[in-house]
Amino acid sequence: MTIFKSKKDLNNHLKPLRNKGVIIGLVPTMGALHQGHLSLVNKAVNNTDVVVVTIFVNPTQFDNKVDLEKYPQTLKEDVKLLQIISEDILVFAPTKEDIYDGEVVSKSFQFDGLDKVMEGEFRKGHFDGVATIVDLLFDAVKPNKAYFGEKDFQQLQIIKKLVAQNWPTLEIIPCEILREENGLAMSSRNERLSAPTRKAASFIYKTLKTAKSMFGTKNAIVVTDWVKQQFAENEKFTLEYFQIADIDTLTPIQQKQSGIKYRGFIAVFAEDVRLIDNIALNY
Ligand code: PAJ
Repeated sequence: MTIFKSKKDLNNHLKPLRNKGVIIGLVPTMGALHQGHLSLVNKAVNNTDVVVVTIFVNPTQFDNKVDLEKYPQTLKEDVKLLQIISEDILVFAPTKEDIYDGEVVSKSFQFDGLDKVMEGEFRKGHFDGVATIVDLLFDAVKPNKAYFGEKDFQQLQIIKKLVAQNWPTLEIIPCEILREENGLAMSSRNERLSAPTRKAASFIYKTLKTAKSMFGTKNAIVVTDWVKQQFAENEKFTLEYFQIADIDTLTPIQQKQSGIKYRGFIAVFAEDVRLIDNIALNY
């Protein structure tokens, strides 16, 4: 297992491989790896010749200082988990000075409003930070394929836009959401929940699944109001938003239209931990 700490060292290793036409797969992460991340890595290992997993807690995408400070940093354990998959995986864990070339700030992007709703509305500047680091990682690795989870569906759609704008030959591979046994979407943040709350958090996915079955016969307002009511009645969880949106534009739905795919998106506070999830509603 080789761990690179600088863009220069990584590039020195990758350049001859690129010249030979080797297919490079990239899995960007912030570490604290769990099975959800590893499902992306497995897919990349099966579909490309060389896999680079990046581990970097990106400061510019955190609107909340406490969340950044509390974000787990577990490089040693992460490397062990990756070794189980393959010793050939390349880990890129740069310092912030190296990846940002000294100036740790976000660039600003234009994503046709995709970045203004939901996570973009509640976490100001978040997607400029995500797009900035992902753009820098694409530049450092120059992958042929990059793997992103549907767990962060809005992020995935924004990255697709970024790629259409800046990286025309790069293929984005979406990966489905991995869940804990009780249905809670796997997340590095789940570790911060107390055991009883983590167990009770099955409520989030259960509610999403019922919303999906209601969406077959009821309109979006009825389904949305029902979800809000469920959370109003549950004192363990505080709903930040539930929104039904067209998956391509991410605009909230007024009236269901045929031929359009919809998802339900949710953000919830459990104790002081912010959890997000989403579900396909009609496909
Ligand atoms: P992070 O939260 O570490 O997630 C890294 C990748 O793993 C993302 O593409 C995310 O969608 C995926 N992922 C996380 N939990 C998952 C689950 N339960 N099932 C499937 N995929 C899952 O997302 C980020 O990091 C950052 O914003 C990043 C893109 C690395 C930029 O800093």
